[in-house]
Amino acid sequence: MAGGVIAPAGSGKEYPGSFTSKVFFTCVIAASGGLIFGYDLGISGGVTSMNPFLEKFFPDVYNKEISIKPSDDQYCKFDSQKLTFFTSSLYLAALLSSLVASTVTRLFGRKMTMMTGGLLFTIGALLNGFAQNIEMLYIGRILLGFGVGAANQSVPIYLSEMAPFRYRGALNIMFQITITFGIFVANLLNYFFAKIEGGWGWRLSLGGAVVPGLIIFLGSFCLSDTPNSLIERGELDEARVLLKKIRGIDNVDEELNDLVEASEASRLVKHPWRDIFRRKYRPQLTFSIFIPSFQQLTGVNVFVFYAPVLFKSMGFGDNASLMSSMITGLCICIAAVISSFTADKFGRRTLFLQGGIQMFICQAVMTVAIAAKFGTSGNPGDLPMWYSILVVLAMCIYIAGFGWSWGPLGWLVPSEIFPLEIRSAAQSINVSVNMIFTFAVAQAFTAMLCHLKFGLFIFFACCVVVMSVFIYKLFPETKGVPIEEMTIIWKNHPYWRKFVNDEDPNYEMAKRGGSV
Ligand code: BGC
Repeated sequence: MAGGVIAPAGSGKEYPGSFTSKVFFTCVIAASGGLIFGYDLGISGGVTSMNPFLEKFFPDVYNKEISIKPSDDQYCKFDSQKLTFFTSSLYLAALLSSLVASTVTRLFGRKMTMMTGGLLFTIGALLNGFAQNIEMLYIGRILLGFGVGAANQSVPIYLSEMAPFRYRGALNIMFQITITFGIFVANLLNYFFAKIEGGWGWRLSLGGAVVPGLIIFLGSFCLSDTPNSLIERGELDEARVLLKKIRGIDNVDEELNDLVEASEASRLVKHPWRDIFRRKYRPQLTFSIFIPSFQQLTGVNVFVFYAPVLFKSMGFGDNASLMSSMITGLCICIAAVISSFTADKFGRRTLFLQGGIQMFICQAVMTVAIAAKFGTSGNPGDLPMWYSILVVLAMCIYIAGFGWSWGPLGWLVPSEIFPLEIRSAAQSINVSVNMIFTFAVAQAFTAMLCHLKFGLFIFFACCVVVMSVFIYKLFPETKGVPIEEMTIIWKNHPYWRKFVNDEDPNYEMAKRGGSV
């Protein structure tokens, strides 16, 4: 096994050009694709804790909830596979669509995939808002999932390809900022809609997804495709004009030549889905699987999806539950903004490791706090104010730790380490694995809480230890390295270097480009 400390790849490369307003606004529009994912992540937990919604679509859960007494086991009050399937079905659909989206992204460009995603999501939102029966609800969720899969497949790649490499971290993290903003807005809306007289507020919560859907759908009409995608599809002149605009200079030859060279190398690969399993892509394949799975095994979505349910289980009232989840939503959003200022400065490794330690400590505190009050019987008696504050505080610090490390980096890192020839396929693996684990955590959570009780938090804390060791040992720093010259980070790494062949066209290119 390789040693832990990795010298930063530190490319000596400098492309001329600056950070232009054109690149900024283009990335803001594209990043709005994260809103659809975030809105959905944030809305379902609140909706599934609204009684009129439960009564209409999940009467058995509703009956169980209203019949439970404060002295009963609170850990198990929401344990219903049907209810969790409402939340998690979307992620299965997203998984399927991200696989299809890989081909659309490669053949028709990143922009087309975003547009299609926005449209499907908007239709799904309408179906959900007007749902009369459970079938409409599920079909709507599936369309929403198709939209999310397409957006998550294309937006991170789009941002990383558009960005000048020195600002890639900051611009890519806009995706996480919009995801978390979506979560926060959804929590806020749930809080107010839950109060609507007549109990139809859930329709506004679910139907409100039309707004982010339309933003990305209409917004993508204003976008050009990325230079990399234009070159990949033979539009060299268009790529040159675009590059001049987004870099704000006339002479873009150096960057353009590198992109053309990368594109030529990528043409040698005819079957990205087969080739990605070749030995030379082992580092990328490893990270495209482990980064998303570990991101979900932090346990973050237990809080994102089920914060209201969790707080309610802990004896907080209806309002207090939604309010506390709004606070955690705000924390995660602010943390993403902090990350966009720090990822290019301190590097990805530092954030991964610092975030891991912070999450671990908070999980330990939550375990002790919940074990002390709820024990194994799940009957806490009265919860004093100081106790509630402690738990909410620990959750906020935990969520902030995730919010500036594994959250944004889980999307940034995969989008910057794949060479062009396998980029679309590898990004689909990244999204699918993320969705499988999002699905699994969402589906298993209420049952795990019911059976593992406070042990649930111990489980996630152990996962955080494993993933931090993984990063420490195996992840080389990617900050400041041009995306098409990334081979160099593997070549410089004591463990991964054996997978890079000196004759590899990507490595040759990195050498000529001055990164070696
Ligand atoms: C993750 C989501 C998570 C969100 C919360 C994203 O990066 O992929 O699963 O809910 O961050 O901030």
